[in-house]
Amino acid sequence: MIEVEDIALPRPATGEVLVRVSAAGVAPWDALIREGKSKVSPPPPLTLGSDLSGVVEAVGAGVSRFKNGDEVYGVTNSQFVGANAQFAVASAEMIAPKPQRLSGLEAASVPVVAVTAWQMLFEHAHAQAGQRVIILGAAGNVGAYAVQFAKNAGLNVIAVVRSKDVEYVRSLGATEVIDEGVADFADAAPSVDVVIDTVGGETRERAFGLLKPGGILVSVVSTEFVSPRSDVRSAFFYAAVTTARLNAISEVFDSGKVTPQVGSVVPLDEVRTAHEMLAGAPHRRGKIMLEVGPA
Ligand SMILES: NC(=O)c1ccc[n+]([C@@H]2O[C@H](COP(=O)([O-])OP(=O)(O)OC[C@H]3O[C@@H](n4cnc5c(N)ncnc54)[C@H](OP(=O)(O)O)[C@@H]3O)[C@@H](O)[C@H]2O)c1
Repeated sequence: MIEVEDIALPRPATGEVLVRVSAAGVAPWDALIREGKSKVSPPPPLTLGSDLSGVVEAVGAGVSRFKNGDEVYGVTNSQFVGANAQFAVASAEMIAPKPQRLSGLEAASVPVVAVTAWQMLFEHAHAQAGQRVIILGAAGNVGAYAVQFAKNAGLNVIAVVRSKDVEYVRSLGATEVIDEGVADFADAAPSVDVVIDTVGGETRERAFGLLKPGGILVSVVSTEFVSPRSDVRSAFFYAAVTTARLNAISEVFDSGKVTPQVGSVVPLDEVRTAHEMLAGAPHRRGKIMLEVGPA
């Protein structure tokens, strides 16, 4: 159950800043947190939301990197709570200056999903220009950034998507697009250096067969998988949004070579509608967003 209500203004503790929120994201993990099923978040009642953008309103003790008036984006804390509000406290270690090219709404749509794609490609797979990468679920929130980051880094991108998303991922820069419902990509795709998995299950199992010896499959979907091959590596991790990772991503956004993927946008006090969209109510492709204050 979600209630929209007035609460006391939060105060930034040591290492935190108070942000006057411009926009906040809504994500699948928010539904788990709302239901009290998250392993990393406190039980309800709580203030939902983690991705945000806004303006620093006050800084806590020990914070020297930010000052009042700075435009920032990032996430609130490692419990993934507190952002769906007019004011939110955020750890100074998990925010960064907002990319200049992005609006507040666009910036708030970025942090967790883009950092996830970034870590998959460049920290776990160590993807390099000229390599071939196949991205499972390339039209999703994480996948769409994986396609763009990989393309921008000079990789050859093969995207595996549903039929409805073929043209979309082509527009993001995929060199080859495989419709998972039509072609068996295990036959259609050439061998690859890297598999980026945002889908899991049987799709992931088949993708192992595409890896060159020495290649790697990186998944963010579930830990419960075992590589069927001994000549390739596999990895699973939980994304960690940090100032350094956001700064690296901001540079790419400010180059104009990667674009944010904002989906449906609703005002903060219609947050219930946003959660209905998460549960399957009609909505635009891209990140579901809450508009909170002036951009
Ligand atoms: N470990 C971590 O730290 C971490 C961080 C972020 C996300 N995640 C997880 O990563 C997954 C992806 O997240 P997301 O935000 O990108 O979700 P998303 O926006 O729903 O994207 C998933 C995409 O995969 C598509 N898809 C589903 N099955 C497919 C198949 N068999 N073949 C091709 N495409 C398929 C979906 O299409 P339809 O929408 O049409 O079904 C959708 O476009 C989720 O399970 C999420 O919980 C984990």
